[in-house]
Amino acid sequence: MEHELVITRRGPRSGLPITVAVHSTARGPAAGGCRLKPYPHWRDAVTDALRLSTAMTGKTILAGLPLGGGKTVVALPAGQPFDRRDVLLDVGDTIASLGGQYATGPDVGTGPDDMAVIAERTTHVFCRPAAAGGSGDSSEHTAAGVIAALRAVCDQRFGSPQLAGRRFAILGLGRVGGHVLRLLQTEKAHLIAADVADRRDLAARHGATWTSPQQCLSADVDVLIPAALGGLLTPAAVPALRCAAIAGPANNQLDEPATAALLHDRGILWAPDVVVSAGGLIHATAVELLHETPAQVGARLHGIGDTLRAILHRAAADNVPPLTVTDRLISHS
Ligand code: PHE
Repeated sequence: MEHELVITRRGPRSGLPITVAVHSTARGPAAGGCRLKPYPHWRDAVTDALRLSTAMTGKTILAGLPLGGGKTVVALPAGQPFDRRDVLLDVGDTIASLGGQYATGPDVGTGPDDMAVIAERTTHVFCRPAAAGGSGDSSEHTAAGVIAALRAVCDQRFGSPQLAGRRFAILGLGRVGGHVLRLLQTEKAHLIAADVADRRDLAARHGATWTSPQQCLSADVDVLIPAALGGLLTPAAVPALRCAAIAGPANNQLDEPATAALLHDRGILWAPDVVVSAGGLIHATAVELLHETPAQVGARLHGIGDTLRAILHRAAADNVPPLTVTDRLISHS
């Protein structure tokens, strides 16, 4: 067993399966968001929590934060109504029972208002709205980190960190993807965007061409930006890719670590998501835990670009996938 602690319980109020996985507290209390999402079976949610919490340990190490990795996953009933408040209070009680070993934050399916409800039951929660005493929505900071990462990727792959005139395909226009879209429009990039939900108006407002998720995944662009759910980079998907590089905020983009080698063999530069996606975690914890100034927090977000640049550089020098270098850094920390 690699994880320190895994709890799965049926929420007493909601009746829904709640899993909290704490991968490691070796470097500090575990942090990681709370994901609310339908799964075919509650065991799939447990599996996801195990993977996502492991990734959080890597994320905190590469971000240089004195934290460990954890995650909360609630398996929602597919297509059925549920009482959101009940679920969040159940999550809050579960986290409270861990006595500070783990603190949560927003993730897929949750936001700052949800964190305020969880906070009714535990103090171990980041990103409550500013009015409720938290650091607020982390998604714009995750997006800022993605932009820093994209500059590093473009520098490595195309010899210039400039984003203007480059072609990007954004897969997922949720909280983070929407901000990435906006920031890239400001940079005067060429944009394609897709989402499983109909967000074509949002895409149009930012000058992006709307496509289907499938077309977006295999679009002929400089950089593909996975900004939705993970697991999209599979052995079946890799041959159809026509991008030169991939970097985005989705967690766990590879179905298996071995897929990194397939991308590498195809000459596609894949930036490990544990580095690219760290902006939200960095902002929330630097503000709420380390009480840093905006300038210090800004420098940390900018540091995502420096960390990634060093990893990509090393990987190129050794002719290995960047994941190999990232894994080395994580296991030697
Ligand atoms: N969803 C964030 C991530 O995957 C987790 C997070 C954000 C945790 C903010 C705490 C605070 O990195």
